[in-house]
Amino acid sequence: MKTPSNSSLLFILLLVIFSCSWAVSSHEHDDFLQCLSLQSNNHSSISNIVYTPKNSSYLSILNFSIQNLRFESVTTPKPLVIITPVHESQIQPVIYCAKENGMQIRVRSGGHDYEGLSYTSQVPFVIIDLVNLREINVDVEKKTAWIQAGARLGELYYRIAEKSRTLGFPGGVCPTVGAGGHISGGGYGTLIRKYGLAADHVIDARIIDVNGRILDRISMGEDLFWAIRGGGAASFGVILAWKLELVDVPEKVTVFTIAKTLEQNATNIVHRWQYVAHKLDEDLAVRVFISRVNSSQNGKRTIQASFQSLFLGGVDRLLPLMQQSFPELGLQREDCTEMSWIESALYIYGLPVGSLEVLLNRTQANVRHFKAKVDYVQKPISKNGLEGIWKRFFQRGSRGS
Ligand SMILES: Cc1cc2nc3c(=O)[nH]c(=O)nc-3n(C[C@H](O)[C@H](O)[C@H](O)COP(=O)(O)OP(=O)(O)OC[C@H]3O[C@@H](n4cnc5c(N)ncnc54)[C@H](O)[C@@H]3O)c2cc1C
Ligand SMILES: *[C@@H]1O[C@H](CO)[C@@H](O)[C@H](O)[C@H]1NC(C)=O
Ligand SMILES: *[C@@H]1O[C@H](CO)[C@@H](O)[C@H](O)[C@H]1NC(C)=O
Ligand SMILES: *[C@@H]1O[C@H](CO)[C@@H](O)[C@H](O)[C@H]1NC(C)=O
Ligand SMILES: *[C@@H]1O[C@H](CO)[C@@H](O)[C@H](O)[C@H]1NC(C)=O
Ligand SMILES: *[C@@H]1O[C@H](CO)[C@@H](O)[C@H](O)[C@H]1NC(C)=O
Ligand SMILES: *[C@@H]1O[C@H](CO)[C@@H](O)[C@H](O)[C@H]1NC(C)=O
Repeated sequence: MKTPSNSSLLFILLLVIFSCSWAVSSHEHDDFLQCLSLQSNNHSSISNIVYTPKNSSYLSILNFSIQNLRFESVTTPKPLVIITPVHESQIQPVIYCAKENGMQIRVRSGGHDYEGLSYTSQVPFVIIDLVNLREINVDVEKKTAWIQAGARLGELYYRIAEKSRTLGFPGGVCPTVGAGGHISGGGYGTLIRKYGLAADHVIDARIIDVNGRILDRISMGEDLFWAIRGGGAASFGVILAWKLELVDVPEKVTVFTIAKTLEQNATNIVHRWQYVAHKLDEDLAVRVFISRVNSSQNGKRTIQASFQSLFLGGVDRLLPLMQQSFPELGLQREDCTEMSWIESALYIYGLPVGSLEVLLNRTQANVRHFKAKVDYVQKPISKNGLEGIWKRFFQRGSRGS
């Protein structure tokens, strides 16, 4: 998929508090561990990375990358064994021994799967947790980077900015999302209009297949290389690392957020946004969040549409562009802030624009129970349709966003 500049794309995220319980599975895993020990040429190294429920740190290792509390309950099916490789060669014995013993493998990078598929299963399973495979090597000259699957997006953005203020990468907004799941499933963020998906910028990859062979782009062939860039890699093997092509960003970008309530014409402006957002200059991305808020006028509840934007350029070029394409929003110079691209990564995620080190923090601040769905709207939603959606925000049990 390339830049979706000529189709109307609207992402609707429905978050619903939801709690789910499953039966616990418990099984023999001694044969698996014995196999692992026989298959591994370095016994002391393997014992440092193998966790069973008997190890006191088993639960904290398991919980560390769980990003949806629906799947952190005592009744969520748990792995018989967790392996946290520190070297690629420690993965092959796991694949071999899991097959020998009829156990399924779940591969986890950042753990952001909406349905917990990287760390839950209804059948006996082991987790290959790539949390320790997180090296990132940025080559500024060639504008490329090798990134191991367990690295997080925030770490990637930080490592790029450390070496260059004019290179970036078109990935997701949430800094704790893992490279393994994100890039193999597509991956989009605020650079999508100009540069498309994260997966569009993969130029090589290392993967271990079901037979334990380590393959790169040439040895895996173009069919498999195509499949792992959007098809979700878990069906095909264990991604070890991606080689990415980085993209150019200007030294100075501009961000703004403008909120409009129903009283401030939100319905009309959101309606209009559907017709202009995908036709704006490709340096300009404007997304919108809908939430329920208290009205400042009468203390009653209302709907607020928050338009948030990243522009790859300075405010002087942005203002006339907005005036020409989306005057309904009424953007003023004082709504805008110029900053570096890496600072915009903080801003867009809602972090204070200050120390960049927070991008290296692998703990997500907002872990909660949620149900998420992503949909693609093919035709603009009518004003009536939007008003119908607003009503849902006032229904009992609605979280309001
Ligand atoms: C809070 C939050 C914010 C998000 N923000 C964005 C966003 O801005 N943009 C966006 O596009 N998406 C976003 N997502 C969705 C996210 O990109 C996907 O859930 C992605 O699959 C997560 O990757 P992960 O490695 O963190 O997840 P994981 O749960 O580790 O993996 C997800 C899937 O990929 C498989 N997998 C993981 N690593 C490997 C590997 N190395 N080899 C083979 N298979 C593997 C897993 O088995 C699982 O099936 C967000 C999700 C959350 C929870
Ligand atoms: C085995 O692994 C341990 C711990 O990771 C390491 O210190 C040691 O050097 C390794 N030995 C060999 C022979 O590779
Ligand atoms: C988990 O416990 C086993 C058995 O006591 C031990 O051999 C192994 O080293 C422990 N794993 C870790 C990572 O400490
Ligand atoms: C991990 O989650 C479990 C629920 O599965 C919970 O009971 C436990 O307290 C958590 N443990 C740690 C160390 O976080
Ligand atoms: C609200 O938006 C509509 C359509 O864009 C426009 O015609 C109207 O003048 C706006 N009203 C106000 C009060 O801004
Ligand atoms: C909105 O109003 C309700 C009731 O008047 C109040 O309980 C709530 O704290 C307010 N919310 C915010 C964000 O101000
Ligand atoms: C990382 O982020 C989490 C969640 O916001 C926070 O609790 C923790 O203190 C942060 N760690 C560091 C080292 O800043």
